[in-house]
Amino acid sequence: MAAAAAATPSKVPILTAALALLVLAMACDASPYYPLELGYYRYKCPQAESIVKAVMEKAVAQNPGNGAAAIRMLFHDCFVEGCDASVLLDPTPFSPTPEKLSPPNDPSLRGFELIDAIKSALEAACPGVVSCADIIAFAARDASCLLSHGRVSFDMPAGRRDGTFSNASEPLKFLVPSTSNLSTLVSSFVAKGMSAEDLVVLSGAHTVGRSHCSSFVPDRLAVPSDISPGLAGFLRGKCPANTTTSTDDPTVVQDVVTPNDMDNQYYKNVLSRTVLFTSDAQLLTSPETAKMVLDNAKIPGWWEDRFKKAMVKMASIDVKTGYQGQVRNNCRAINHY
Ligand code: HEM
Ligand SMILES: *[C@@H]1O[C@H](CO)[C@@H](O)[C@H](O)[C@H]1NC(C)=O
Ligand SMILES: *[C@@H]1O[C@H](CO)[C@@H](O)[C@H](O)[C@H]1NC(C)=O
Ligand SMILES: *[C@@H]1O[C@H](CO)[C@@H](O)[C@H](O)[C@H]1NC(C)=O
Repeated sequence: MAAAAAATPSKVPILTAALALLVLAMACDASPYYPLELGYYRYKCPQAESIVKAVMEKAVAQNPGNGAAAIRMLFHDCFVEGCDASVLLDPTPFSPTPEKLSPPNDPSLRGFELIDAIKSALEAACPGVVSCADIIAFAARDASCLLSHGRVSFDMPAGRRDGTFSNASEPLKFLVPSTSNLSTLVSSFVAKGMSAEDLVVLSGAHTVGRSHCSSFVPDRLAVPSDISPGLAGFLRGKCPANTTTSTDDPTVVQDVVTPNDMDNQYYKNVLSRTVLFTSDAQLLTSPETAKMVLDNAKIPGWWEDRFKKAMVKMASIDVKTGYQGQVRNNCRAINHY
């Protein structure tokens, strides 16, 4: 006891110094002090979220594919360099091959003009305030709500800043092909702090939108696969038999049952082998993920609850906040000050 009491006074300055260092370390690392927050634009641009929603409502009413585009855009943004809108940057002489020219994005990723339209509406209301990364996150949230007729409705925290680096080699490292097996799919999610359940739940986004024939013909139609004979016959009627020799690459809907509805039909399709990709079919190859598919298919509201949370989680991957990055004036180009 005496020894402990004697030691205390000399420890005080050490503790104080340690505390000061800790505070300093936290102050220098911007992220702990600038988490994403709900209502981030409440004072900076009160109309921000309603402007995004208005543009999305019009765009989705015009073509539900615009909603699918925004949802896939969030995935392809967040898994590469974090959710920082790096996927939107156009080529320049200094950066001739940005992410958007990489095979996972080119030519299948769409929605760039949609994001431009939202950005210009926001710039008219609040110049230089709303980041392109937040626009993608809000647009994906609104798309989910609109395509689900309000059943997948959730709040999206904001405060993301836009990145300044984009390179075509990066998407190939983090967006695995649809020919992947379950362990590759899970690993690609775990590498981003996402779980196997997040993979199962977010794959449910394949309940809307489309696919090019070239994304599934080689591994699902041109060779024996577990795809249902009915769907295979339908797809053979729409797709060239050999997409490597054909220049013609049509698109088909992801969910043949309810193509424009954000619902749990995807999981019913997985169970009936009525899905396009190997990556979709692979969800049945482990007991754990197969159980999740079953729960999502059978229990009302189960998938919707999980999808909302998983979208918010995905939208927080490696975000730049506070003094990191910038708020681009044009989503296609970095600002030069
Ligand atoms: C790791 C698993 C995934 C793989 C392998 C994968 C693969 C694909 C492929 C190949 C397409 C078709 C592209 C085309 O040919 O046009 C597609 C479309 C789509 N994906 Fe995924 N995807 C995955 C996960 C996700 C996630 C996590 C989301 C979002 C939460 C998502 C949302 C979508 C949407 C909405 C479409 C339709 C896009 C449109 O209509 O333009 N996918 N996906
Ligand atoms: C950018 O991508 C190109 C093409 O994928 C690659 O050759 C180059 O090394 C990359 N540059 C950087 C800085 O990562
Ligand atoms: C999954 O695919 C990876 C990469 O192609 C391969 O290395 C691995 O052995 C495969 N795993 C299983 C379980 O098939
Ligand atoms: C598709 O065409 C390529 C090039 O002619 C050929 O090598 C390949 O075997 C063909 N694949 C099928 C499934 O017919």
